[in-house]
Amino acid sequence: MRVELGELGFDEGGSLLVKRCVRAAAENEEIAIWGTAHELQTHLRAWCRSQGHEFRWMDNGDTPHAVILPRSLASSRWHGAERAGQADPLAVNGVAEYPPRRWGLAARGALVEAGAPEFDFTLVNKVEVWSADATRIYARAAAAQWDPQTVIPWTAEFELPVEVEDAVVQIMTYLVENETAALVVPSRFIAQLHPHFREVMQVLAIQAADDARHMEVFTRRALLKRQQLGLSTASGQQSLKTLIDEPDFAVASFLLSVLGEGTFLSLLRFIERYAPDPITTAVCRLAAQDEARHVAFGMAHLREHVERRPEMLARLANAIRKRHDALRDTAGLNAEVFDALLLMAAGSWDWSDLRRGQQRLMALTRDMHAGRRKRLIQLGFAETEADELSALHTRNFM
Ligand SMILES: [Fe+2]
Ligand SMILES: [Fe+2]
Repeated sequence: MRVELGELGFDEGGSLLVKRCVRAAAENEEIAIWGTAHELQTHLRAWCRSQGHEFRWMDNGDTPHAVILPRSLASSRWHGAERAGQADPLAVNGVAEYPPRRWGLAARGALVEAGAPEFDFTLVNKVEVWSADATRIYARAAAAQWDPQTVIPWTAEFELPVEVEDAVVQIMTYLVENETAALVVPSRFIAQLHPHFREVMQVLAIQAADDARHMEVFTRRALLKRQQLGLSTASGQQSLKTLIDEPDFAVASFLLSVLGEGTFLSLLRFIERYAPDPITTAVCRLAAQDEARHVAFGMAHLREHVERRPEMLARLANAIRKRHDALRDTAGLNAEVFDALLLMAAGSWDWSDLRRGQQRLMALTRDMHAGRRKRLIQLGFAETEADELSALHTRNFM
């Protein structure tokens, strides 16, 4: 084989032509390299030494040139390399059941050189994290991102009675606190997840970004006409802390996404419906759209998990009971939030309005219960157990 470099230097891109020939050469085939570039001999000799190829410089004939005999050092570098699954998650064995930690950050489907460092990812078991729906849910989320600045009518004019505005501020303060928990939980697991499960990582990342946006718009609504936010209670934080502290991915995702965010779906739609101003309506409507996806992913991977490991249901039921016991002595939803929701749903201090507000609030808690019950049954719980478990859900809603 023969490579003509002409005036092109090895360090000017000529190396690519040489490497291409080395790759194409048959076993024990010599390659002659001709060229007039200054220092070609020096560059070629150094490169061959680094790669383990034999190198000879022929200057006894008319035109001096190099002859190299490729040796296997270069190819042996990729000896022992392994293909890290397939980029396409639907390919046969595309997503490994237990991707080795030595695959590290490599893109799924890449050829990974032997000797790469092992990473300390703790979520390495496909059954615990994977869902075939992750690709679809991520694509939907990416397409549904909205810009808080342009999509919410921040400049719409409205004036509310002082106490109704106070109620909205209190509700928003409570929402921000809960959104913060909903951001922290997936964010913590992203860093523990083996990147081989790329689509799940992407879903969790965009979920965290959604909740970051919710924190922003709720805060902004609260401060629209006020200098200060409302109250944060110890019992509310205690309830959220049990979510933050949950070390198990499946259990945390069950408590947060299926039960907590599922319950929040009802709450956000309730606020959207009875909101006294167009901005509160808009922020809750947009947040509810995002939350529906968060719930959908929690349901999707847990359903697949339970299908493969039915004993998982007992663990999930146990997690609800444990959380209920841990929160038994706390006040649950703070009275300030409850009263604010009631006043908002009533719309005025009229007796008949207040009675109607109270009825709407009762309908909300029934709606929340029905939603949780339905999702628990979809996961595989029997109806009576779904009833019982839904009733044990935290009174803080999330
Ligand atoms: Fe959220
Ligand atoms: Fe969320």
